[in-house]
Amino acid sequence: MVALPTAGAGERVEHADELLARVVAGVPGGGPQRPEPRLVDLVEVRQHQVVLAREVLVEGRPPRTGFDMRIAVLGTGMVGRAIAARAAELGHEVTVGTRDVAATRAGDWADWAASHPRVGLAGHADATRGSELVVNATSGAGSLTALAAAGEENLAGKVLLDIANPLDFGNGFPPTLSVLNDDSLGERIQRAFPRTRVVKALNTLTADLMTHPRQLADGDHSVFVCGDDPDAKKTVAELLADFGHTDVIDLSDITTARGTEMLLPLWLRLYGKLGTGIFNIKVVR
Ligand SMILES: NC(=O)c1ccc[n+]([C@@H]2O[C@H](COP(=O)([O-])OP(=O)(O)OC[C@H]3O[C@@H](n4cnc5c(N)ncnc54)[C@H](OP(=O)(O)O)[C@@H]3O)[C@@H](O)[C@H]2O)c1
Repeated sequence: MVALPTAGAGERVEHADELLARVVAGVPGGGPQRPEPRLVDLVEVRQHQVVLAREVLVEGRPPRTGFDMRIAVLGTGMVGRAIAARAAELGHEVTVGTRDVAATRAGDWADWAASHPRVGLAGHADATRGSELVVNATSGAGSLTALAAAGEENLAGKVLLDIANPLDFGNGFPPTLSVLNDDSLGERIQRAFPRTRVVKALNTLTADLMTHPRQLADGDHSVFVCGDDPDAKKTVAELLADFGHTDVIDLSDITTARGTEMLLPLWLRLYGKLGTGIFNIKVVR
């Protein structure tokens, strides 16, 4: 069961099976409110079924049964694009949020968007308003500003997967941390948006590994979730499992984000030493 938009129809089809049945049966529209299914819908459903079949047959994962989400990914950098592409591939409805839609479209976004036609682009507030889950993939220095632009009301009650690191490049490379020890960016975001359910996760590994963890040691490495709301952490942990993560450690409340953000000085030195970002920590126990 997946939720897919019918391209151009403005209608959200709740079940791929229903859409397929309508196409196969040749039922025009399938009902008074239903627009006629188009070939593009069928292709999209087929592509999605291939993804689902690969998960079950190749990756050995149990079939997914939940409904897919409307996800807003704030930030158009490598993390935002990686998360948006993977989430869309998994069947979620994804809109990327940016400070300036026209400026982003005028840049290298156009090429990327052409190969990711299911990912939308909007201002932060528009992307966030209709979403069920929000991902903060903005620079640490700009995160609070970007989230303020997304809107306190639009974020209220929602799960916010916060991937940002509070890196300060003021003195060049490697950057230092602008928040540390007795505070963290995750906590600052939670304090600034008390009605939002902030979960810090995925900030401890490079973008491509966040979304394709099985390329390294067949996924036998660890990621962390930090946050005050157990249900929000469960939602994020399920998304991480969908990405292919096998060891998701719940560190406890949002103050534990201090530890994951303070891993960055070690991560940056390992990156310099190894000459690649394709590495991660495995918590052996
Ligand atoms: N790169 C990685 O592999 C990696 C790994 C772990 C964690 N992280 C963390 O994930 C976040 C995203 O990293 P990234 O490498 O994708 O890109 P990034 O260079 O940190 O920037 C991401 C986006 O943030 C927005 N942004 C930049 N400055 C801003 C400001 N002053 N105010 C508001 N928004 C601003 C921009 O989006 P728009 O121009 O579209 O608004 C930009 O594309 C960062 O916090 C980073 O520390 C990155």
